[in-house]
Amino acid sequence: MCGIFGTISDNAVNDTLKALKCLEYRGYDSAGIAVKNGKDIRLFKTAGRVENLQADLPSDLYGCTAIGHTRWATHGEVCANNAHPFYSYDRNFAVVHNGIIENYLSLKYNLTASGVNFTSQTDSETVAHLLAKYYEGDVLQAVVSTANRLQGSFAIVIESVYDGNLYAVKNKSPLVVGVTDNGAYLCSDIRCISRWADKVAVTPDNVIVVANRSGVKFYGFDGEPVPVKFFSVDKAEEEASVDGDFMLKEIMEVPDKVRQAKKGYIECGGLNLPAKTVHRIKRVYLVGCGTAYNSGLEVAAVSRQMMDIDVIPVIASEFIYDSYPVDSYTLAFLISQSGETADTIRAAERIRQQGGFTYAVTNTVTSSLSFVCDKVINIRADAEYAVASTKAYNCQLVTLTLLMTDLAYLKGTIGEETRNKVFDAMDGLGSAIDKILSDSYEISRLAEEVKDSSAVFFIGKRADYPTACEGSLKLKEISYIHSEAYPAGELKHGTLALMEQGVTVIAIACDSDLLDKIASSVSEVATRKARVICVTPYSVDNATLIKIPVVNRLLYGIVSVVPLQLLSYYVAKRLNRDVDKPRNLAKSVTVE
Ligand code: M6R
Repeated sequence: MCGIFGTISDNAVNDTLKALKCLEYRGYDSAGIAVKNGKDIRLFKTAGRVENLQADLPSDLYGCTAIGHTRWATHGEVCANNAHPFYSYDRNFAVVHNGIIENYLSLKYNLTASGVNFTSQTDSETVAHLLAKYYEGDVLQAVVSTANRLQGSFAIVIESVYDGNLYAVKNKSPLVVGVTDNGAYLCSDIRCISRWADKVAVTPDNVIVVANRSGVKFYGFDGEPVPVKFFSVDKAEEEASVDGDFMLKEIMEVPDKVRQAKKGYIECGGLNLPAKTVHRIKRVYLVGCGTAYNSGLEVAAVSRQMMDIDVIPVIASEFIYDSYPVDSYTLAFLISQSGETADTIRAAERIRQQGGFTYAVTNTVTSSLSFVCDKVINIRADAEYAVASTKAYNCQLVTLTLLMTDLAYLKGTIGEETRNKVFDAMDGLGSAIDKILSDSYEISRLAEEVKDSSAVFFIGKRADYPTACEGSLKLKEISYIHSEAYPAGELKHGTLALMEQGVTVIAIACDSDLLDKIASSVSEVATRKARVICVTPYSVDNATLIKIPVVNRLLYGIVSVVPLQLLSYYVAKRLNRDVDKPRNLAKSVTVE
């Protein structure tokens, strides 16, 4: 993944540091900056956060051209040597890269054989050396030659001692270009440059960018100019700050955002597909990764109770390589908070190529995913900063449930009365969640017991199983406790062997039709001395209960996940974890 940035501006160093802070959600293993001052490029990099880099910079660092990077390690351990930017062997070029150069081993082999010494274990360093190798008096020509040697996904920003330009090369990884009256910005994310840029362009694949004070030009990998359109953007708000943790703040926002998501759905006209398209749909895919996938899993379980066409949740990285059927009868919802998840974008591209209709369900309508899909809907969760996704999940569920309810209605598998019941019931969710949040003391107390568990298993049946998956993902990613989720009936097929004292089982029991079944599973694990916690609006024996309010039976997932989000947060805090930036992760996963 990683965040890349480059600027030509009067305040290049400060602007770069500000942008890197904004980009840190894409990776926080290391950070670096390279500044061109006169004829030299001065380069500084460090393991860890942008604030470490900032503390190490000399006070006289000045220049009008700078590039910067925040890293999520793919090739090579987390250390300063593997941090970007990289110099070329002659120090005449410096580069930052986001993506993976898939053929880097053969490139590295040839460069090493010709006498080049590598200073890092990364794939990215090859780019800097190739530029120096191909330079024969024309930087653009060196960039073109280098671009044509690279395979994989890459957004690369380049500065050189030879001219005042910034260059960039783009294929599959995001790169936006912003312009001002006398400067330019190149970056992985629009949000991180819109405070300066008046107009931005989304760089297409296989394109080279040349930026300087007088403007920006785009070329194909054959060196021929290509037209790219700029559009105006609203100034992004300054990066939010918070007293305490973003994750807790974002959980506390869930009630309001759930209300906002429904309002937003109505205001934008909802599903909004032509009757002809709706009529054709025979198969619906819900595609995403991590939490976004779990929201698809949940809404698929709910939708199967409303319609009789295939509704299939798929993990995006599996969708790309498996042979899921796609044709003009296919509707796919591509779910992504950031809209920058590479696997989800690749899945969208595949579905479009094969004639399916692609519908982005995202929190970032200016994202790469939105540009790839036929249609976009905003889940209206507002910016989410904590790596662990919380409010976006609830808003994905609201939006997707409404979309699928409208689809079922338009296809005639539910009547108007049922449709309206679901829509009206959404209005009560905010206050149901408010109630859970105001009783959070008990959950915080339970966290003290859960934090020393040797493992935590989450179980549920039907639409409660996806909630178990999401609870488990949340706990493991921020507490580092081993955790898995199972459909409750699966325990007896193997996992029961792990039940013993020290293990915690968290059962989700909101489906009144299946209460007896889940109660049996609870009893089976309690008999084996596991501690059992049960999230439920009902009464269940042999378990410590986290009671939640009664809501419409199709909407429990939006509510019952909230105690699990809170529990994960409190467990992680008690273990002194970095809740907002857990180890080895990043907010946005932009590599396949
Ligand atoms: O931005 P996206 O929704 O596409 O991100 C997908 C996953 O990377 C994300 O949900 C991840 O699983 C979260 N860290 C989970 O909390």
